[in-house]
Amino acid sequence: MSIELDKLPYSSNALEPFISERTMSIHHDRHHKAYVDKLNKLIEGSGYADLTLEEIIVRARLKKDADVFNNAAQAWNHDFFWKSMSPKGGTPDGRIKEMVESEFGSIDAFEEQFRDAATGQFGSGWVWLVLEQGKLRIMSSSNADTPAGTDLVPILTLDVWEHAYYLDYQNERKKFAETFLEHLINWNFANEKLEGAEGRKAA
Ligand code: FE2
Repeated sequence: MSIELDKLPYSSNALEPFISERTMSIHHDRHHKAYVDKLNKLIEGSGYADLTLEEIIVRARLKKDADVFNNAAQAWNHDFFWKSMSPKGGTPDGRIKEMVESEFGSIDAFEEQFRDAATGQFGSGWVWLVLEQGKLRIMSSSNADTPAGTDLVPILTLDVWEHAYYLDYQNERKKFAETFLEHLINWNFANEKLEGAEGRKAA
C-alpha cells in the first residue's frame, strides 16, 4: 500500500487573487508531491508499508525515525492545509464562531493571536488552531512538526514555509497570514473537525 497524493479540493486557480494559481500548482504538484513520493520510497518494504499516514506519523515519532516522520508529517500537514482553505472562506459561523468568541474574546482577538503566531514562528513551520482537552488553542510548530497523531485535535492550519507565499507576497508573511484570516479560512471544515472531536468525546 502506498500513500496517495490527494488532489486539491478546488481548482488550482480557485483561491485567486489571494493565492495565485502558480503558487498553488508549485506548492501542491511539486512540494506536496515530493513529500509523498519520498515517503513512499522510504516506507517501501518496511514495517511502515501497510500503515495509514497517521499511523506512520505516530510510529515514526515514537521511533525517532526523522526522515519518515518529516515526510509523513509534511504529507499530512499539506493535505490538512488545503482543506483549511476555501474559495468561499471568510466569516466564521456556528459552533466554531461561538467557541472562538468565548475563548479568545472576539474574532478580532483570535485573528491577532493567530497572525502573531505566524509572524513569530522563526523559520519554516505551521500555525495551528487545535482543540486541547476541549479548549481551543493557537500553537505553532517548526519545520514538519505536527499535532497529528497526538492528543491535540487539529482544527485549522496555515503553512508558513516560504514556499507557501513567497511568489505572491515575497517576504511579507504577515500580509499572507492576514489574507488567510480574512478571506481563505474554511470555517465549515473547522466546524466539521470540532463536531467530530466533540462527537468522539460524547461517544
Ligand atoms: Fe508547504
